[in-house]
Parts: sequence; structure tokens; C-alpha cells
Amino acid sequence: MHSYAQHSPIFLAFNKTVLKNSGGTLGTFCVRCHTPIGISSGETSIIVNDKRSEAALDSVGCVSCHSTNQPNQEASSVYHVPVPGDPEPIIYGPFYGSDEPGAPDDPSLRLIKSPHTSRHTDYITQARLCGNCHDVFSPDGFRIEEAFSEWRNGPYARAGISCQNCHMGPIPGKPFMQDQLAENYIVDPNVVPGAYKRHRSSHRFTGPDYSVLLAFGKTDLGLDQASFKQLGETLEDQRTTLFRNAATMQVKHPDAVTPGSTMPIVVSVTNSGAGHNLPTGFAAERQVWLEVIVSDASGQQLYSSGTLDSAKDLRDEDSEDVQKGTLALDKDLFNLQATFTSAGFRGTDAESISTVNRLLDPVPFVTPATTPALITGYPPGGRIFKRGIPPLATKTARYDVKIPANAHGPLQLTVRLRYRNLPPHLLKELDIADLRPKLRIVDMQEYEEKIQVGRGDLTAAPRSSDLARTAAR
Ligand code: HEC
Ligand code: HEC
Ligand code: HEC
Ligand code: HEC
Repeated sequence: MHSYAQHSPIFLAFNKTVLKNSGGTLGTFCVRCHTPIGISSGETSIIVNDKRSEAALDSVGCVSCHSTNQPNQEASSVYHVPVPGDPEPIIYGPFYGSDEPGAPDDPSLRLIKSPHTSRHTDYITQARLCGNCHDVFSPDGFRIEEAFSEWRNGPYARAGISCQNCHMGPIPGKPFMQDQLAENYIVDPNVVPGAYKRHRSSHRFTGPDYSVLLAFGKTDLGLDQASFKQLGETLEDQRTTLFRNAATMQVKHPDAVTPGSTMPIVVSVTNSGAGHNLPTGFAAERQVWLEVIVSDASGQQLYSSGTLDSAKDLRDEDSEDVQKGTLALDKDLFNLQATFTSAGFRGTDAESISTVNRLLDPVPFVTPATTPALITGYPPGGRIFKRGIPPLATKTARYDVKIPANAHGPLQLTVRLRYRNLPPHLLKELDIADLRPKLRIVDMQEYEEKIQVGRGDLTAAPRSSDLARTAAR
């Protein structure tokens, strides 16, 4: 994902819109982490990628992580990385350099040779390295992303399980300690005699985003169409694996209901696998929601929540169908997407449902604001209202489904926990509506069950927990 950061058409459109709305005063803020090399070489925020240096288009390239042993966490990536023209940098990594003073004699720890000066640092295996960029604070202190902070205050930090353990092992989202990683050559032993097999990490950094460009990386990797397609499928599999490793879901409902009664469905979602909130990071755009559908024997829907509108948006306040009144608001919607709130003149908080409007609003980012707050009606003091589930915690949703008097059983209940990296309406607001068909939904957990409809002797409410159905994978 890191090589894609500065190429993502979604990032570029977002940056452009935010710059436009802030009258340009936001400067290089947005490109800082997406191309640290570009910024360190003095490139500005507005130049198009065609005009950027080749090194800048590495996005988060090797030197972004391997050129320092000095922690910079929470600097929102304000630090210099070596750029072409700088003195030859020292490359830091988990291994000791061949000529490193005081290096242990153990060949599994010390490199035979390297084309650059290599030095060992523990910092490369620490979460603080990732915290450089995975806590995003705007110039006025607005905390936009907090993956690192959430991790640091959570159970995984206490257990010594860092970002690298879950994000650089063979299975995305499953913790691996460094000595559990497969051993392989870094360099070809035919070219470098005496090369040693070492623990190898994955640098894919599988995440919710994926390339929406047709052939990103194809030429660089020298792949033909067939292998490029296969790589795309492997990456998508790994993405699905990451999400399936993130959460478990438990569904409770009665085995049978009487017509005319109300059937309670209780769904609990546990963040069983993520080292930070679910979702984290870009949480104001990430959608993690429950889809609950109850149909009768003829297939007719009796109830639904978490289903999509005609533009494939959730039926929340951002849905055009809901705004036009052609679809009802999904009042029961369980969605862990964060929202932006802004402090009102009287010191109260108002929720701004459309994260986009809020984000595009210059106020949270700009000093000084290009328009006085009195005129825009958006006073400063915005913050993010997170709904994500902290590590190992559980959130529960309850649905009360009215069973019609003439319902024909058995009823079919399906529940899905779903993930989507971005909502379609955001792409429309960023002027890249044509990319909407590229949005993919991953089903993190699924559950299906039949419910009998009986008359008289059946009760509607579950009497004990043995009526519970569990959908844990
Ligand atoms: C986002 C940060 C990041 C970027 C970008 C990055 N690395 Fe790494 N790299 C790491 C971390 C962290 C480790 C140590 C992993 C461990 O041992 O747990 C590592 C380890 C390595 C190792 C040691 C062997 C191994 O497989 O772990 C090599 C070699 C390496 N990186 C090369 C590169 C090269 C070449 C690039 C650019 C193409 C690159 N890295 C880009 C973070 C990064
Ligand atoms: C120089 C800044 C920088 C550093 C350091 C960095 N990252 Fe990232 N990372 C980014 C950016 C920017 C993206 C967004 C790429 C995109 O989605 O287009 C990203 C994306 C990711 C993703 C994928 C998220 C997605 O949206 O798909 C994961 C996972 C990730 N990083 C983990 C790590 C870990 C673990 C480390 C530490 C070893 C690390 N990063 C270090 C900047 C950084
Ligand atoms: C215990 C394993 C674990 C640890 C530790 C962990 N992660 Fe994750 N991470 C996950 C899983 C599982 C997901 C997918 C679910 C999600 O999006 O929250 C994920 C998702 C992410 C994403 C994409 C989030 C989104 O929804 O946009 C980023 C970025 C990320 N992790 C960065 C980090 C960083 C940085 C650290 C260390 C500070 C870290 N992770 C520590 C397991 C872990
Ligand atoms: C401190 C580092 C940092 C800064 C500054 C930053 N970002 Fe990011 N950006 C990230 C990281 C890390 C991710 C991946 C987060 C995740 O997946 O949860 C990301 C992901 C994104 C994505 C999703 C990428 C995709 O391919 O869809 C967009 C869009 C984005 N950022 C836009 C922006 C905009 C606009 C700004 C300026 C307001 C900005 N970023 C400033 C680090 C940063």
C-alpha cells in the first residue's frame, strides 16, 4: 500500500479539494506522509505527479522507514528523509552491518555485505516508527487519525505486540513474532556467496485500500497480464483475510415467533483481532456496518437495515434517496464510521453527519481561516466523534422486528458484518464519481438461520441463552 499512497486518485482528488477549500493555506500538509521524499526535496503540494521526481513517486519509499533510528512519533511526518543529492544515507534495519562496530559475530544477525552503510536499530521493529505517520494531527491540533495512539493505549501495546507483528507477517492481521517469520535470502546466494537465510517480513502492508488504477505497478514489477491479474487476486484475498481476522459476531434471536409479535434480534460485534479501534485511521470514511434482513417464506422482505440505496450508499443522512424522500432513513443502522462534530457558539457539540462537508470545510485545518467563522456558521473547535470498537471490546445492536399477522414461515434471517473503505457519495463530492464502481465491500462475518412461525404455543422472546446462535469463525 505504501508505494501507492501518492498515486491514489482518491487521495489526489481529496488533496485538491481540501486545498481549494482552504484557499491553499493548508500547504504541504496532506502530501507530507503520502510522499515524504517529495516534501523533503522541496516539492510543493500542488504540482501534479507528472512533474514530481521519480523518487517522490515512490510515495512512502524505502528511506521513509529505513533512514533513521531517531523516533519522531506524533510529528505527523514532519521530518527529513534523505533525497537524491543528499550525502549517502545510513540505512537502518533489523540486522547489523558487515562493518558495524560492536556487531555480534552471529551470521544470522550480521549482514555479509550491502551496497550502502547498514546499521542495526531496534527502532525499526517498534510501533513508534509507524506512529510517525499513523497519527495524523492537523496544524491546529485537530486529531484526524489515531491508529498509533489507540494502539499505545490498548492491550496489545501492553503485551508487546507491535504494528509490525500484525502487519508484516505472513497472514495479515495475525500477530507473528519476528522469530516466527519464515527464513529466506534477502539477496541471491549465487550473486553474493555466503548469503544467509534470514527472517523475512512482508512489506505489502495489506489494508482497506487497494489500487483503483488499471495497471499500477505492472511495469515496475515486470509482470505480464496474467501474472498481474493473479497478483491482484492474491492481494484481494489477503485483504479479505485481514478483515476476517479483525472481528467476531454473535447473533441471538428466538427459534420461533408468533405472527403479530415483535422479534428481538441482538447482534454483538467484538474487535477480536485489530490492535487499535475497528475501524481505525481514516475512520471518518471507513464504513463497518451490520446488514440485517428478515424475509418470509415467499422471499418477501419483512425487515432490513444496513441495505444500500440506488447509489449503493447506506440509507443514512448522506443518502440522496433519503434526502429526496424516496427511501426511508435507516433508523436502526449500526455503522462504526466516525463523524465530525463542531463546537457550537454556546459551547455545545453539533454532529456533522456528512464527514465530507466537514472535512472540506476549511475550519479544522486552516490558520487563519479564509472566511470568518461568523459567516460560514462553522465555528472552530471541530473534533472527531469516534464510533470504532476499541481492541477486544464489544458493541451490541438490537433490532425489534414486527412480524405481520399473516406472516408465512419459516422466516429467513441473514446478518452480515460488512466493510467498505469509502462511501460512494464521497467520490461524487470529490468529483471522481466514475470511480464508484471500483468500490468493493468485504463481508467480515456472515450468519444465516431459519425461524419458525407458529401460532398460540410459541413465545416471541428468547427464554434462555440456549436459544442463542453463535456465528464465530
Ligand atoms: C513502512 C515502513 C517500511 C518501508 C516503506 C520499507 N520497509 Fe523494509 N522494513 C520495515 C520494517 C518495520 C522492517 C523490520 C521487520 C521486522 O523485522 O519485524 C523491515 C525490514 C526490512 C528488511 C530486512 C529483512 C526482512 O525481510 O525483514 C529489508 C531487507 C528491507 N526491509 C528492505 C526494504 C526495501 C528495499 C524497501 C523499499 C522497497 C523497504 N524495506 C521499505 C519497514 C519498512
Ligand atoms: C512516511 C509515512 C508512513 C510511515 C512511516 C508508515 N506508514 Fe503506513 N501508510 C502511510 C500512508 C500515507 C498510507 C496510505 C496509503 C493509501 O492508502 O493509499 C499508509 C498505509 C498503510 C496501511 C494500509 C492502509 C490502507 O488504507 O490500506 C497499513 C496497514 C500501514 N500503512 C501500516 C504501517 C505500519 C505497520 C507501519 C510501520 C512499520 C507504517 N505503516 C509506517 C504512511 C506511512
Ligand atoms: C493485533 C494485531 C494488530 C496490531 C497490533 C495492529 N494492527 Fe492494524 N489492523 C489489524 C487488523 C485486523 C486490521 C483490519 C481491521 C481494521 O481496519 O481495524 C487493521 C487495520 C489497520 C489499518 C487500516 C485501518 C482502516 O480501517 O483504515 C491501519 C492503517 C493499521 N491497521 C495500522 C496499524 C498501526 C500503525 C499499528 C501500530 C500502531 C497497528 N495497525 C497495529 C491488526 C493489527
Ligand atoms: C501524518 C501523516 C498524514 C497526513 C499529514 C495526511 N495523511 Fe492521508 N493517510 C495517512 C495514512 C497513514 C493513511 C492510511 C490510513 C488508514 O488506512 O487508516 C492515509 C490515507 C488517506 C486516504 C485514503 C487513501 C486511498 O487510497 O483511498 C486519503 C484519501 C487521504 N489519506 C487523504 C489525505 C488528505 C486530504 C490529507 C490532508 C488533509 C492527508 N491525507 C494528510 C497519513 C497522512
